[in-house]
Amino acid sequence: AELKVFAPATVANLSCGFDVLGCCLDSVGDEMLIRKNNLNQVRITKITGQDLPMETDQNVAGVAVKALLKELNSNQGFDIEIDKKIKPGSGIGSSAASSAGAVYAVNKLLNEPFDAQKLISFAMQGELLASGNAHADNVAPALLGGFSLVRSYDPLEVLSLPVPQELVVVVLHPMIEIKTKDSRSIIKQNVSLKSAINQWGNLGALVSALYTEDYDLLGRSLQDEIVEPVRSILIPYFQDLKVLASENGALGFGISGSGPSVYALCKGEQIAKKVRDAIEVFYSNKYIDFELHLSGIN
Ligand code: HSE
Repeated sequence: AELKVFAPATVANLSCGFDVLGCCLDSVGDEMLIRKNNLNQVRITKITGQDLPMETDQNVAGVAVKALLKELNSNQGFDIEIDKKIKPGSGIGSSAASSAGAVYAVNKLLNEPFDAQKLISFAMQGELLASGNAHADNVAPALLGGFSLVRSYDPLEVLSLPVPQELVVVVLHPMIEIKTKDSRSIIKQNVSLKSAINQWGNLGALVSALYTEDYDLLGRSLQDEIVEPVRSILIPYFQDLKVLASENGALGFGISGSGPSVYALCKGEQIAKKVRDAIEVFYSNKYIDFELHLSGIN
């Protein structure tokens, strides 16, 4: 028995939701093939597209699947093939896609012993390996689709939020690698009450905007005065890009996950293409290699 899955890229944080909010891109992602074997072993048998560890315990997909099997007390073996299209360290949930795709497929091949919440917790073990921290804001939307909100980490409680139909995301990936581990280490550990008030005001408003399809409110709530000021220093021309996105009609703009990718959330494909084209022209003149993606959320 084998299963081929699409393992989607995700945008985590969405400015005001550090470690608790993320969304799933419907047209950027990896392909994975998972197959049962009779060896009682989880093996990473093939990785194409990127150079990543093949040892099961060093590979996020391997670790996530082993966490699932351990909970089942199962010694069923699996072979995992990954066609990696999302670059590691890009900020669009590369490790999360592999972890989430692997546990999703294995669960299906075992006739679904676990629900989505449990799968999220297994996939988080992959995130722990990749970044030193078991955050869920990439793996949850990769598994559930759409927008996900982590209400609580202990116990884990993840909610799905509605997706306003006209939302389109533009993602710019400057080709520099920023490891999540490193970009987490520079964040301040304490937050002022004033910043916290602004942040939870924005996060609450963002959730409301998703339910009411209030695009303007959504745009106003995409702000982050806690993490973005620190991390944006690592991203070439961040402030210029932000102004450019806004001038071309984006609802909001910020760092995707831990960067270096940035995202612009737009209403409708026409505006998204305008924003993408403006960023392309601007960045082409800066002698930095980059990739641009345009995607729906689903
Ligand atoms: N919330 C995590 C962070 C996402 O910002 O570090 C990592 O992709």
